[in-house]
Amino acid sequence: MSATVNDRIIVALDFPTRKGALEMVEALEGASFFKVGAQLFTEAGPGLIGDLIKKGKKVFLDLKFHDIPNTVAGAVRAAAQRGVEMLTVHASGGEAMLRAAREAAGDDGPTVVAVTLLTSLASEDVEHVFGRTPASLVDEVVRLTGLAVSSGLSGVVASPAEVKPLKRSYGDVLQVVTPGIRLAGDDPADQSRFATPERAARAGADYLVVGRSITAARDPAAAFAEVVQAYESGRGPEA
Ligand code: C5P
Repeated sequence: MSATVNDRIIVALDFPTRKGALEMVEALEGASFFKVGAQLFTEAGPGLIGDLIKKGKKVFLDLKFHDIPNTVAGAVRAAAQRGVEMLTVHASGGEAMLRAAREAAGDDGPTVVAVTLLTSLASEDVEHVFGRTPASLVDEVVRLTGLAVSSGLSGVVASPAEVKPLKRSYGDVLQVVTPGIRLAGDDPADQSRFATPERAARAGADYLVVGRSITAARDPAAAFAEVVQAYESGRGPEA
């Protein structure tokens, strides 16, 4: 996954309508990578993926697939045929599902990225779901990433605080996609564990997913440029 700096900033199109999403894409001429999540996909449908690709944009389809291997493989194939660049599956779907997703993506298809623990889950929630107390949430994220890696995946979604422990455990071959980004001085809104683009980049994040810091800014194009610049200064000239 070699990429320019602009390609490393994924703008989350968390809009309730196709029109709102496409207006934001028009306003962000310099941005090349956009995230389509469950809300927008359900409202606008898969045709939106083609609309974005026709504009020369890359699409991160964040639908967090979690189902039997055959069904997930079918969904990944459908996404690959639509030209998606990157997509998410739940690591907790297990090895067979992860392998099926990876195989369905093929060698030239989308990068399959695993979601480990949703950041909305606290330690007690993990206990309720899995029936045991994790040593720590970070340990659990590192463990689930191990499952994704041993199942052939090379990327995970992880919060800024988890990037360093993940890189320490799995090295730079692991691509880390990091949401929870706020420009210095922004309102954190509902993100409790967030970081500036610079800090996330310094920790080693390969891709940043940025929503409201850009899309709710008074001047989204200027905010995007600010994120790119902050990412570059954190990452250094080699990025
Ligand atoms: O607006 P904001 O920058 O908080 O948007 C973050 C985006 O990243 C949203 O689309 C959200 O679904 C996604 N995300 C997240 N935290 C995670 C995983 C994904 O905020 N742990």
